[in-house]
Amino acid sequence: MVRIPVTLGQKKCDILIGRDAWQQLDKYAERYDRVVVITDRNVGRLYGGRIAFPKIVTEPGETSKSWASAEKVIQEMLALGLTRSSAVIALGGGVVGDLAGFCAAIYMRGIPYIQVPTTLLAQIDSAIGGKTAIDLPAGKNLIGAFHQPEVVLINPEVLQTLSRADLVSGLGEVVKYAVMAAPELLDILRAGGEMIFTAPHESLSQIIVRCCTIKAEIVSADEWDQGLRKQLNAGHTIGHALETATSFRAFTHGEAVLFGLAAEARLSYRLGLLDRQQLAEIEGACQLIGLPVVPSDLSLTEVKQALLRDKKNRADRISFMLPRAMGQVEEVLLSIDEVERHLEAVLYPGKV
Ligand SMILES: NC(=O)c1ccc[n+]([C@@H]2O[C@H](COP(=O)([O-])OP(=O)(O)OC[C@H]3O[C@@H](n4cnc5c(N)ncnc54)[C@H](O)[C@@H]3O)[C@@H](O)[C@H]2O)c1
Ligand SMILES: [Zn+2]
Repeated sequence: MVRIPVTLGQKKCDILIGRDAWQQLDKYAERYDRVVVITDRNVGRLYGGRIAFPKIVTEPGETSKSWASAEKVIQEMLALGLTRSSAVIALGGGVVGDLAGFCAAIYMRGIPYIQVPTTLLAQIDSAIGGKTAIDLPAGKNLIGAFHQPEVVLINPEVLQTLSRADLVSGLGEVVKYAVMAAPELLDILRAGGEMIFTAPHESLSQIIVRCCTIKAEIVSADEWDQGLRKQLNAGHTIGHALETATSFRAFTHGEAVLFGLAAEARLSYRLGLLDRQQLAEIEGACQLIGLPVVPSDLSLTEVKQALLRDKKNRADRISFMLPRAMGQVEEVLLSIDEVERHLEAVLYPGKV
């Protein structure tokens, strides 16, 4: 088992990775008067039997990150008798992790929780760092709290039951880590080939350890998202805008991130911040997983509107984490007029 420390202001949170990581649960659970698992119907059916605590089961999917389901979960936490000395286990993907973490953050002004992530995206990204959230009709993750888990227990074996689409979604974030900090991840991806999909637990374990190490270092240095953590937004400014402009129906999150990484690399090249060879390398990295096709009826006006509403904007300027070279990104703030000059060319490189 691999242990990666996340060093936070007042506390330390370990990430434990390995096929026996879940065996640590009982040891942690002993610290609390009651422990309850929050999971979704899919994960509960597959893995609920392995964790012998009472369960609160939600519907799978992003719609569960809502006020209504948070309220329902909290009512069930009350009914199960959770006190301020109790804890919650988030067993599932990023949706369960964000929702359960948020409920733990606000229940009786905050109780501890343990992350047991079961999707690739959750194992390398969302379960680490203490960002919890629910969505509003006006936008994703608009309500939330920083609430660090006590421990993150990662068993890569559960990736065997994950759908190909959900694996691809996590792989988009792997390419993000490669482009922003660790190009060597691409060699592991290339070496894995189709095994990544047929035996993900074997071919991805090393990748999970590397990505968790990078995120742990960044979160330890910038727990409250004041600077360094911005790097993790590489590919996400254009990626989020595409998701919003297509009402979250055209891509998985990871696909949107892959497309965003390639498009932001082209933007960086057009601004003179990236040379042609590095651009080709980054585009090639994104194609390793397979770049999604942007729908032909995509509205550039809606992409622009989404960029203007981005939560990261500062003083009417849009924040991009643009690559300066493979493995290195830097924040660049652009006005919407500057973005508009390049938008079509970076979204449709063959056309313009
Ligand atoms: N908090 C953060 O820092 C952070 C970072 C990135 C993303 N997120 C959030 O994460 C969410 C997306 O997470 P996700 O991609 O994990 O999606 P998800 O939680 O919806 O999981 C995807 C699907 O896989 C199923 N599933 C989960 N584990 C499985 C397994 N082992 N085998 C079979 N099926 C399994 C789930 O039931 C679901 O249907 C978004 O809401 C996003 O905003 C949060
Ligand atoms: Zn992401």
